[in-house]
Amino acid sequence: MTLPCAATADPKGRLLVVGATGFIGRFVAEASIESGRPTYIFVRPGSGFSPSKANAVKSLQDKGAIVLQVRAYHPCPGFNENGRNLHGLINDRELMEKILKENKIETVVSVVGGAAIMDQVALVEAIRAVGTIKRFLPSEFGHDIDRANPVEPGLQMYKEKRVIRRMVEGYKVPYTYICCNSVASWPYCDNTHPSDVLPPLNQFQIYGDGSVKAYFVAGSDIGKFTVKAADDVRTLNTSVHFRPACNMYNMNELAALWEAKIGRTLPRVTISEEDLLDMAAENDIPRSIVASFTHDIFIKGCQTNFLIGGPKDVEVGDLYPDEMFRTLDECFEDFVIMMEKPADAEAVKAAAPNGTVEHITIAAKCS
Ligand SMILES: NC(=O)c1ccc[n+]([C@@H]2O[C@H](COP(=O)([O-])OP(=O)(O)OC[C@H]3O[C@@H](n4cnc5c(N)ncnc54)[C@H](OP(=O)(O)O)[C@@H]3O)[C@@H](O)[C@H]2O)c1
Repeated sequence: MTLPCAATADPKGRLLVVGATGFIGRFVAEASIESGRPTYIFVRPGSGFSPSKANAVKSLQDKGAIVLQVRAYHPCPGFNENGRNLHGLINDRELMEKILKENKIETVVSVVGGAAIMDQVALVEAIRAVGTIKRFLPSEFGHDIDRANPVEPGLQMYKEKRVIRRMVEGYKVPYTYICCNSVASWPYCDNTHPSDVLPPLNQFQIYGDGSVKAYFVAGSDIGKFTVKAADDVRTLNTSVHFRPACNMYNMNELAALWEAKIGRTLPRVTISEEDLLDMAAENDIPRSIVASFTHDIFIKGCQTNFLIGGPKDVEVGDLYPDEMFRTLDECFEDFVIMMEKPADAEAVKAAAPNGTVEHITIAAKCS
């Protein structure tokens, strides 16, 4: 696609991040704040009760986010006996309309998790009703879900994301779909948030023959380029693909990169296509969903088996040729620094023989 030079519309419009306390959402919210946009975030009723969520909100607030403390209008089946809303907020259309109008929101980025994709139906209805939203970015942040076809149970999530796409297009809501591929980290086949854990320290699990390539993008870059794309006139009604050539690796190369970082070699075991399909077939959610995506990426090559360049596709590197991506080498260096921190020593020791490790929180330091 030919890209005009004019890059951004109003770069300081009010941006609402729905799901800012989540894994990808924090990166998006931080990037929006850093860009100088008035950045609005939600605290879902009930979120404040979890210390980690409360900390996430406080941290974003300290950086400049405007926190909307809202209550759902209508007690609904999502309310539990304590009065906390388990599912609510974006699925409360009336409330969302009010929030969007009263706060004069121009851009909405939804980063709700995989289990809440259909909650966006009411959000899209509200955006349509308000009629002043200049851009909506639904919760995608992975593969091009119209092109990729993972096995179940991953496919179900894609079907839901497709429903949201068709709604947005049918209502003529201005949109951008973010296809950012994999988060830069070791791609464990059973972990939804792999950048929260160290790469293997005992042995590698290599999917298939380890030769199928994928793109790895630092969380901070997902945030940075999402926010840039969110008010770029060139990304209106397109899918934005993240394909940094410097971060295109297969499993064998990924293992070699990590071995160079830790200064020793590790044994490799093969996880075959059949193994991944068996894990997916167990239907143990969310592990089986991750297994089906792992199969799609590292066996079928879903990130690299199609060309982009149609009228509805743009590539981040073409949009922002002067902007650098953090390299996977730098991101792996972060893991080495984590290993050297005494506080993390216990977790490092906990690395299990099968290559899985205990969760360790890493700071969003990739900016
Ligand atoms: N490319 C990759 O490697 C990758 C990795 C992970 C995820 N993803 C994709 O990224 C997107 C976000 O996933 P995630 O894992 O970052 O999500 P997550 O960590 O589970 O966070 C979900 C966020 O959505 C909020 N939320 C959920 N339901 C809501 C509702 N009804 N109203 C308002 N807020 C609601 C949650 O709020 P509370 O804090 O109140 O619960 C939380 O802030 C998904 O589309 C997922 O498929 C991609």
